[in-house]
Amino acid sequence: MDIIWELFIILHANFLTCISAQPNAPKIHEGWWAYKEVVQGSFVPVPSFWGLVNSAWNLCSVGKRQSPINIETSHMIFDPFLTPIRLNTGGRKNICHREEGNAAGPCQVGGTMYNTGRHVSLRMDKEHLVNISGGPMTYSHRLEEIRLHFGSEDGQGSEHLLNGQAFTGEVQLIHYNHELYTNYTEAAKSPNGLVIVSIFMKIAETSNAFLNRMLNRDTITRITYKNDAYLLTGLNIEEIYPETSSFITYDGSMTIPPCFETATWILMNKPVYITRMQMHSLRLLSQNQPSQIFLSMSDNIRPVQPLNNRCIRTNINFSMQGKDCPNNRAQKLQYRVNEWLLK
Ligand SMILES: *[C@@H]1O[C@H](CO)[C@@H](O)[C@H](O)[C@H]1NC(C)=O
Ligand SMILES: *[C@@H]1O[C@H](CO)[C@@H](O)[C@H](O)[C@H]1NC(C)=O
Ligand SMILES: *[C@@H]1O[C@H](CO)[C@@H](O)[C@H](O)[C@H]1NC(C)=O
Repeated sequence: MDIIWELFIILHANFLTCISAQPNAPKIHEGWWAYKEVVQGSFVPVPSFWGLVNSAWNLCSVGKRQSPINIETSHMIFDPFLTPIRLNTGGRKNICHREEGNAAGPCQVGGTMYNTGRHVSLRMDKEHLVNISGGPMTYSHRLEEIRLHFGSEDGQGSEHLLNGQAFTGEVQLIHYNHELYTNYTEAAKSPNGLVIVSIFMKIAETSNAFLNRMLNRDTITRITYKNDAYLLTGLNIEEIYPETSSFITYDGSMTIPPCFETATWILMNKPVYITRMQMHSLRLLSQNQPSQIFLSMSDNIRPVQPLNNRCIRTNINFSMQGKDCPNNRAQKLQYRVNEWLLK
């Protein structure tokens, strides 16, 4: 009798735990957000509602170190202690230096490209690891995913703005701190968890070699609909980086729910280029599955968030140095930054 009674208590306790876990189980809402109002159908929370519909996402509303932001170049501070960013793709001594013009061999990686319904997302495979370090980083960070944001028109599409101006798209290379955390999920909610390298996209006659692999017609049309996936191999990760070692960095957040404030952002000070045709192909990607109505994925952008006294640092030496950060913000410097930046 006693044993059965104990068993009953154990079962009952488990049952109660299940019930009490239910109301705040975040899983229920995990995919329930969008960038835009849907044309037809039920309410889906757009960015201004992300923080209100799920308590696990409240940072999206109340957080004060949110991303993206508008980069005002007059607010930037030159930090002479920022070292160059180092890209490491092969363990041992296979460091890929653009200058060395080495064969693609050691730098090659692969991944699976997805239409997630919200982004074009290239998730790196686990065999060829890519780490970055240097710059504002105190730890080495491993590349987890490359995500594309882009606009329905050329004048919009990037999440970050530069002096109030948007670019036609933004490539985000999302890395996690593999020295402190076992995986991306763990790192995303933890201090110093993420480093996101951001590269603006512009339209030109020729395309960035790496983006060309992702966006040529044969490839991009394989992921027209939500949940489509396509395997890419032999990618040379260094090719996605524009030819510059200048960057801008600040502390912010993920730009999707749950908006955790665990990300250090690094914005490269040069864009990468894609062709008009490739841009067009991106706009033809659907947020939906084939059986549903076509809804273009474009304008998958979170609006800019307040800077709130954060410091924006750069390794661009505009010859007069800002002093300590963030108290002595250099407001009225006369400087010449990289020519591209001011365009
Ligand atoms: C990245 O870091 C991990 C863990 O320290 C290491 O095993 C791996 O070899 C590194 N990869 C590269 C390419 O350096
Ligand atoms: C990530 O790591 C944590 C802690 O080690 C573990 O509990 C979790 O299952 C892992 N998640 C994934 C998706 O691998
Ligand atoms: C920044 O530029 C100024 C003027 O060209 C130069 O004197 C100074 O040494 C530079 N600082 C660094 C850290 O490169």
